[in-house]
Amino acid sequence: MTKEIYLTGDRPTGKLHIGHYVGSLKNRVAMQNSGEYEPFVMIADTQAFTDNARDPEKIHRSLTEVALDYLAVGLDPKKTTMFVQSQIKGLFELTEYYMNLVTVARLQRNPTVKAEIEQKGFGESIPAGFFTYPVSQAADITIFKAKKVPVGDDQEPMLEQTRELVRAFNSAYNTDILVEPQGVFPAKGLGRIPGIDGNAKMSKSLGNAIYLSDDADTVAAKVKQMYTDPQHIQVSDPGHIEGNVVFTYLDIFDPDKAQVASLKEQYQQGGLGDMKLKRYLTEVLESELKPIRERRASFEEDIPAVLQMLKDGSDHANQIAEKTMTEVRAAMGVNYFDGLK
Ligand code: TRP
Repeated sequence: MTKEIYLTGDRPTGKLHIGHYVGSLKNRVAMQNSGEYEPFVMIADTQAFTDNARDPEKIHRSLTEVALDYLAVGLDPKKTTMFVQSQIKGLFELTEYYMNLVTVARLQRNPTVKAEIEQKGFGESIPAGFFTYPVSQAADITIFKAKKVPVGDDQEPMLEQTRELVRAFNSAYNTDILVEPQGVFPAKGLGRIPGIDGNAKMSKSLGNAIYLSDDADTVAAKVKQMYTDPQHIQVSDPGHIEGNVVFTYLDIFDPDKAQVASLKEQYQQGGLGDMKLKRYLTEVLESELKPIRERRASFEEDIPAVLQMLKDGSDHANQIAEKTMTEVRAAMGVNYFDGLK
């Protein structure tokens, strides 16, 4: 039986943080190791250009960082094809054809793109490529005939759009070559973890993230700054656990649930100080992050090998993509010269 293809990706606009790890990377490694899928993981540099066109260096730098993060968490090139979006030329071609099967009005309704436009402050100057990136993302998914797409909740509109494009293409060209994908979403509470400052979103621009590449001292220092309960002043004061980032992180990272329950009880009663609690969280985080950091450091010693891995992955991905493109061209009848020399 052929295995189901799963595909996902990340824009290379910075290093990956522990939010990416619990919300997505960990699950990708589990899916990879289950042996039930044929996994593709894409560094979406083309998409990163849609809002960083004038900062190519950031994209180049982040490409290597993201690849190192992938290897560090345990994505294994023997099992997962890791590749680079811009190297798959068929994607540009398929995107262009898809553009004709979607309306401007439909694209304007995409809530995630709307929110991003707002957040990036594009105003009236929205790059056309940014506005249409969901179309390019539909090409990413369908060129590999991916059935499963593990992504954050904010990506559901992209999947909806992709399914519409699949139906539009198959119907316009009277074919069934394209496959409708399903999203695979993070477990409750893991989709978005708060930043160390208590902001609902962990992000580079807010400066509130813990990176997979942070060293042990940096992690300890970030935990020290973490938002707890501003009313918990004396160790003996009863403290609140709601909105207290230390407890949110313990709920996510500490496998010892009984221990977390007992710490919560002590904290609410009074007598458990923030310093002590934060030292404990640092240990918990370290037991998860230390092996990742060590693997990252060893891969970092041979960057050319990391690039070679991405090249090999891209070559493999290209072969699959070209197979679909041969079918796409035939379905559209733009294979005029087939059979000619
Ligand atoms: N838009 C995704 C993000 O910002 C990245 C991405 C690009 C992607 N192409 C994809 C995700 C295809 C899944 C499938 O996270």
